[in-house]
Amino acid sequence: MHLGRTTLSKFLIQQSDRVEGASDLAALLIDVAAAVKAISAMTAKGALGGVLGKVGNSGGHGDTQVIKLDLLASDEMLRSCEWGGLVAGMASKELEQPYAIPDEFTRGRYLLLFDPLDGSLNTDVNSSVGTVFSVLRHDLAAPPSVADYLQPGGKQVAAGYAIYGPATMLVITVGKGTHGFTLDREIGNFILTHPDLQVPQDSSEIAINTSNARFWEPPVNRYISECQAGKTGDRARDFNLRWIASMVAEVHHILMRGGVFMYPRDTKDANRPGRLRHMYEANPIGLLIEQAGGRATTGRRRLLEVQPESLHQRIPVILGSRNEVERIERYHAEFDSGSDRPYTSPLFNERSLFRPEAHA
Ligand code: F6P
Repeated sequence: MHLGRTTLSKFLIQQSDRVEGASDLAALLIDVAAAVKAISAMTAKGALGGVLGKVGNSGGHGDTQVIKLDLLASDEMLRSCEWGGLVAGMASKELEQPYAIPDEFTRGRYLLLFDPLDGSLNTDVNSSVGTVFSVLRHDLAAPPSVADYLQPGGKQVAAGYAIYGPATMLVITVGKGTHGFTLDREIGNFILTHPDLQVPQDSSEIAINTSNARFWEPPVNRYISECQAGKTGDRARDFNLRWIASMVAEVHHILMRGGVFMYPRDTKDANRPGRLRHMYEANPIGLLIEQAGGRATTGRRRLLEVQPESLHQRIPVILGSRNEVERIERYHAEFDSGSDRPYTSPLFNERSLFRPEAHA
């Protein structure tokens, strides 16, 4: 009946054809998918599962709320992936330190990093949430130290996210394009439904939390003001600005229809250069977006080139449709060089003949 359908396992086996070590990677991604199915079932129960709400008020690494489902989802990923001899260690956004593989299991050659339930506050309001993961290599025999995890995003061998929406989907890359699978709940398999996703180069849909506007840098303000001015401004067309407060849901939107997602650098909290986690959010999503032909940047540097300095650090993120992201990067460069405000240069001081008013 379903003979023509490509399951996740079939897809991964086809992709890994003759590549050394690829069958281990495929097996790991199948373990990740097993955890995703369990997390999907948990979140789908909603209030009936008794798993909504908080368990405390202070996470160990800077988040102020600890959501019950975050911890359950984190455990699910650890249990699903620790036993198969595929990972050398794991790092969860919910754990202060990396998780060491128990002695009873063999250690493998990969490091798995994950945010078990991104946007988890949305579970209380029955909106989409997701699981984000990143896979790095660890070829040493010794157990990994924290420093072994601190690899730039360009070193990822696989990345992906699951979105728990009306349908549960898994979107992955193993470095050969970005591909979407939909969970067929009746048979329990992920089926390839969105092969070779491509982010449109242009878009008018922008996801940003505009309540932070007073903390943004000038280039971001410039870009968003132009979007808000719409047809009557420099861009001469209307934009749609929105915010779901769930990165996975915003990114999924971009992969399906194009757009830009931004959590740029801001001055809200001097200890945080941004909101999103470098290793658990920015790196995996950056790779997925690039593999789909989009662009991912901090505003000043390609995201995947930035060397992480600590496991839980945050980073400014701007990603999506290439032409829009490149424009925002240009605004940052023009701001940094001062070329976006020539009339503030010494040549245009109070007495200068070059003052534009002098020629008006
Ligand atoms: O990093 C977690 C996260 O919930 C993202 O999923 C989301 O994009 C963002 O934070 C929401 O931020 P805010 O609280 O500013 O709406």
